[in-house]
Amino acid sequence: MVGRKSRIAVMVSGGGTNLQALIDAQGKVLMDGEIVLVIANNAKAYAITRAKEAAIPSKVILKKELGSQDAFEEAILKTLADYQIDLIILAGFMTILSGDFTKRYENRILNVHPSLIPKYCGDGFYGLKVHEAVLAAGESVTGATVHYVNEITDGGQIIMQKEVKVEPGDTPESLQKRVMEQAEWMILPMAAQMVSERLRKEREDECI
Ligand code: GAR
Repeated sequence: MVGRKSRIAVMVSGGGTNLQALIDAQGKVLMDGEIVLVIANNAKAYAITRAKEAAIPSKVILKKELGSQDAFEEAILKTLADYQIDLIILAGFMTILSGDFTKRYENRILNVHPSLIPKYCGDGFYGLKVHEAVLAAGESVTGATVHYVNEITDGGQIIMQKEVKVEPGDTPESLQKRVMEQAEWMILPMAAQMVSERLRKEREDECI
């Protein structure tokens, strides 16, 4: 293989189990990309500890401190440029990014969502709320989706999906855990590899 790996920034807000799955996939499923930066919008996110343990630089960028969405996005864009990021992965990043931001990285931002999009997605559907809605509707199957991010919340092109069974007696927490274990932690590294490989090939073609 010629050329360098795609440089990945993972953006997080919380526990960071999806970040961990990506870290663990490096050199295995994730061959054409390397995580060179973690950005958190929450200083208490356990994901920051995971980054530190893996010796990956992390930055905390807080909207509250910067005062506006514009200033927040500007600070993120500057950090991404400083680290020459090729691919952004939203892994439990609980803030909506504007269309101006997503256009700057068209087809280079991925998000993992804990449902089978187009079901249970869009504004207001995040984290446990998704699983609560799935249980309230009496679904027998749910799952997770990795998709490109554009200006429509959870509306970008779907890259990969995996179904997961809803079991009798499930709580939102037990369902969240199964969807993570059986879907998110598997398809996110696979999708990250697909896109890292595409970007790597595009860079190589540009050099010819
Ligand atoms: C994951 O289930 C992820 O799919 C979800 O938040 C959780 C983050 O967990 N994301 C969304 O709901 C985005 N709409 P993690 O911090 O342990 O990866």
